[in-house]
Amino acid sequence: MAQATFHFPRGFLWGCGTSSHQVEGRNTNNNWWAWEAQPGRILHGDKSGMACDWWNGRWREDFDRAAEGNQNAHRFSLEWSRIQPAPDRWDEHALDRYREMARGLIERNMTPLVTLHHFTDPVWLGEKGGWENEAVVDDFVRYTRKVVEALREYVTYWMTLNEPNLLALQGYLLGEWPPGKTDLGAALRVYTNLARAHAAAYHAIHEIQKEARVGIGLHVRPLLPAHPASPFDRWAAGMQSSMLNEFLPRAFQNGVLRFPGWFRRLPEAKGTQDYLGINYYTLDLVSFKLSKASELFGDRFYPPDAELSETGLSANLPKGLFDSLKWGMKFGVPIIITENGVEDSKDVLRPRYLVQHLHQVWRAVNFNFPVKGYFHWSLVDNFEWERGWTQRFGLWELDVATQKRSKRPSADLYAEICKENGISSEMVARFAPEIFDQMFPG
Ligand code: BGC
Repeated sequence: MAQATFHFPRGFLWGCGTSSHQVEGRNTNNNWWAWEAQPGRILHGDKSGMACDWWNGRWREDFDRAAEGNQNAHRFSLEWSRIQPAPDRWDEHALDRYREMARGLIERNMTPLVTLHHFTDPVWLGEKGGWENEAVVDDFVRYTRKVVEALREYVTYWMTLNEPNLLALQGYLLGEWPPGKTDLGAALRVYTNLARAHAAAYHAIHEIQKEARVGIGLHVRPLLPAHPASPFDRWAAGMQSSMLNEFLPRAFQNGVLRFPGWFRRLPEAKGTQDYLGINYYTLDLVSFKLSKASELFGDRFYPPDAELSETGLSANLPKGLFDSLKWGMKFGVPIIITENGVEDSKDVLRPRYLVQHLHQVWRAVNFNFPVKGYFHWSLVDNFEWERGWTQRFGLWELDVATQKRSKRPSADLYAEICKENGISSEMVARFAPEIFDQMFPG
């Protein structure tokens, strides 16, 4: 049997990603809580409820699980609606609790990466027009200053916005998330305000903390023409990709928001990313469809022969992660994989998905791509937005009613990878024997 180990660079960050609304429980003062209460918004009428009960202190035991699993980093998010429950009120107790969490990571020898905004908005912000109203830029900066002052002792890696591209599309073009709009003009306004808010927050963070590393977590999804020979498919794929993938990191590089047929100069956004966070799950093929004007003339689907995840959310296409990293190189900053994972309650696909994706990361670092870390999504099963509790992304299984956690085999696999700082043939033989020959031929 072939024996080998794929080693990662020294100091590589290994962790998991989480987000406040998905794990804390009872975030009653944000727009998602209200959205969940509306009939038909969430699959099976599920609610975030107590989520993983982190706000009552269960973050401690979950951080222990991560640390015992040899993870040296963790990405978590702050809930704006807790920290600033009203425009003129800061909740110092909430800030203390987040300080305690950040310190809790340091005490466990884990590097915190803190997200300032992960999809949820305070109710008061929505009442002012949310991300459509350009006043959000100043509001976001005030909030950013407050939290960076409070946590700077423990945190240097900041993510201003998680998947701003998905937020604009899901909330304002496809209408699946609050505020449920289907309006291209609104989506472009929101995109612009997100870009401006990021840029302003970037400058504010660096003013407070010189050594800060600031970026966004971008949902990156390679969009490939279904028929590469068709100029129509190529055009539709390009349109979709510029809207989803290209728009924001490009603006943070050169200060221009450019979408085919539309642009806006944002000089203050130029050079405002210290790293690019890539959230990669899967890729799509795109074919041109005249009838799909609202979806930028593209029909998106998975390659017909692709292996699908448990609920069909993702196709297991690991090479897309390599391609995304290669694509990300053009922005000229280090890259962190800030999310990657699969919903798989029985942990049948996950071990293989994990190994195959990390193998692509290893390939990338061997080409000297500046990839600095990997955050698996997620540590424990959590509330999956409009898909409620139907999708299980955790290395640990959660019984939502009892809050009991049970370890899935992937948690042990990931623990071994983190400890080794690499993937060995022996691990693959034990956890994902079905891909052994493909990974270690000969
Ligand atoms: C989001 C997470 C979400 C994950 C899996 C990402 O788009 O950032 O909040 O849970 O996908 O659906």
